[in-house]
Amino acid sequence: MGRVSNKVIIITGAASGLGKADAMRLSDEGAKLVLTDINVQDGKQVVKECKNEALFLEQDVSQENSWSDLIKTTISEFGKLDVLINNAGIAQIGNIESTTTDQWRDILRVNLDSVFFGCRAAIPEMSKSGGGSIINMSSTTALIGLSPYLAYSASKGGIRSMTKSIAIHCQEQKNNIRCNSIHPGSIFTPMVDDALKNLVGIKLMEQEDPEATRKAMGIGEPLDVANLVLFLASEESKHINGAELVIDNGATAGDASQ
Ligand SMILES: NC(=O)c1ccc[n+]([C@@H]2O[C@H](COP(=O)([O-])OP(=O)(O)OC[C@H]3O[C@@H](n4cnc5c(N)ncnc54)[C@H](O)[C@@H]3O)[C@@H](O)[C@H]2O)c1
Repeated sequence: MGRVSNKVIIITGAASGLGKADAMRLSDEGAKLVLTDINVQDGKQVVKECKNEALFLEQDVSQENSWSDLIKTTISEFGKLDVLINNAGIAQIGNIESTTTDQWRDILRVNLDSVFFGCRAAIPEMSKSGGGSIINMSSTTALIGLSPYLAYSASKGGIRSMTKSIAIHCQEQKNNIRCNSIHPGSIFTPMVDDALKNLVGIKLMEQEDPEATRKAMGIGEPLDVANLVLFLASEESKHINGAELVIDNGATAGDASQ
């Protein structure tokens, strides 16, 4: 028996990085997966690599209508919905003076509107399934300032507070649905490799030994986050609700040099 045996789990942004790692880990532990992404080719490849039942659906999470289609397909294929992982996201450089209005709206649409649409669409079906777990991928940028990622930080801060409102709503409704946010620091994925290139001029994938450089720079690996996602998806975390779980190897805890 796996830790999430027979749970039906939706993961957005599952074609790459953290979403892909979540899919592998949850599939290993017996979940039935509905994976979505705008990247169809890589998304279908992830399905092929899953050990347990999984299907892929093309979805742009920022499109409101895509959510009712996704929930309908999930129910028709698997009969219920237990867990929603709102993972898809984008990051673009821009501080308070350089961010354009179009950039601001794009980032908020993909990163924040999507979480609102997803939670609103999933809760009625999760209620029918007797409860469930919603896991919203935020960031440490929701907790501390990062000037080159203004809109990104704002979107992740919005996810943090929306998560708590949803958790309290679900308690009031007594529907047995939990809602928590995860706040990773830097984890080695294509998104972070691009960010590092922009911020410090280093691309991990271009290093002679990317793994050694990753460790030396104190950067996590996707499995670190996937293990936390697995815990939140499972019944082991049944008393954790409305929480913000930071996973950054102490980066936001204080200054290690003092
Ligand atoms: N990697 C990190 O260090 C880190 C840190 C904090 C938070 N996060 C968050 O974790 C999540 C995953 O990031 P990642 O590092 O794996 O990035 P990634 O770029 O490797 O993966 C993101 C995935 O989301 C998909 N996506 C983008 N726009 C989409 C849309 N409109 N609809 C559907 N899918 C879309 C992409 O195609 C991609 O497969 C993001 O929300 C990100 O903000 C990552």
